[in-house]
Amino acid sequence: MANAELICFEPACRARYAITEVLYNCTKCGGLLEVIYGGDRPDAAALRRVFLERRASNAPLDASGVWRYREMFPFLDDYACVVTLREGNTPLLDAPLAARYGGLDRLTFKHQGFNPTGSFKDNGMTCATAQARRLGMRRVACVSTGNTSASMAAYAAAAGLDAFIFLPHGNISFGKLAQALEYGARTFEVEANFDQILALVRVLAERLGIYLLNSVNPFRIEGQKSIIIEMLDQRDWRAPDWIVLPGGNLGNASAFGKALRECGEAGLIGGMPRLAVIQAEGAAPFYDLFSHGGEFRAVAKPETLATAIRIGDPVSWPKALHEVRSSQGVVEKVTEQEIADAKAQIGRCGIGCEPASAATLAGIRKLTANGVMERGSDVVAVLTGNLLKDPDYIYRYHTRKLEAPGGIEIRSTFGNQSIVVPNDPDRIAELL
Ligand code: F0G
Repeated sequence: MANAELICFEPACRARYAITEVLYNCTKCGGLLEVIYGGDRPDAAALRRVFLERRASNAPLDASGVWRYREMFPFLDDYACVVTLREGNTPLLDAPLAARYGGLDRLTFKHQGFNPTGSFKDNGMTCATAQARRLGMRRVACVSTGNTSASMAAYAAAAGLDAFIFLPHGNISFGKLAQALEYGARTFEVEANFDQILALVRVLAERLGIYLLNSVNPFRIEGQKSIIIEMLDQRDWRAPDWIVLPGGNLGNASAFGKALRECGEAGLIGGMPRLAVIQAEGAAPFYDLFSHGGEFRAVAKPETLATAIRIGDPVSWPKALHEVRSSQGVVEKVTEQEIADAKAQIGRCGIGCEPASAATLAGIRKLTANGVMERGSDVVAVLTGNLLKDPDYIYRYHTRKLEAPGGIEIRSTFGNQSIVVPNDPDRIAELL
């Protein structure tokens, strides 16, 4: 068993804490916390072999596309506290049409929308829920743009924990809200935005001793590393040139970078892929920081129809900045129109995704056009959420009713309207 600890992410501090402390930030400097491991670790050949063998196992931990890779995040000393819904196990899908649209010869999607609650959040939630149980916590909470809450509600229900969910009123899709209700979480819609509600929930969690399951929780990040580890395993440990992902609260960017570093240190991969984080233009503080430098400046009123990434003050920006820089990565931003059209193209591949996920393809199109990404690059884009998460957006796009914030009309470039017809074979035949 490796010995795991929490360590402050700030280079000037690096304070260490026991893995069983209920902490989200460094008590000395306020920095973000990261899980680190010491002790003897298996070598790359042994790891590859055990990961492969577990694919043929029906044991719940092995059948999980997260826990199958547990040697890469050995923070538990007893796996009895794990609750798995068989998360992960998400496919790599070739998408020739989307590749062409993005200006690439070839493009593969890692589709996290195939998860039990329809988004990548399940990869992290199974780990953070296990930690909650290990710590003996009975109540868990999060603020969410919808997917974290859906995931937390499901895992809390499965684990027998009480779930308290806080949502920005009027700015989450009904599909996601419906999930929280159906999984039985106590759900509050607060008249404030994500960033404001996060501050509120942190106060409540502290005051009431409720365990916080937002991505500031370092165990969420440990679980989300498995998205990258599974993708590399599916590619027989051939690292791509680029990994493209949408950026909101920047937990995923942090997790992906940590996973790549650790896979490199373990000798599982040779080359290091570059991370490309894509933000929506109206909620792009990380893009601003990356391109203009200087102090981090939050966006006070973030706006985007991709409500999953409608975040102006992303908690994990220091980690994400480190990871993007150390991978020689880039940050790009895309417009509402670009997201909407890219999303329709992903749909035409027979794949589909929710709006935030489509920022990836919109970003790729921009990065190939401006020469940052080469046409022949080996690119994996992570689709973070399922198409059915936000059907209202889709219906509006295809019926020319989609409006960006500020009342700006979104062109239905690849629209596909349904046709109302009489119950008459002759009339329908005429139309076909
Ligand atoms: N894509 C989807 C579908 C999301 O739900 C989120 C985040 C992101 C991308 C951005 O990921 O925060 O790691 O940069 N959703 C959170 C939530 C904030 O509450 O569900 P990130």
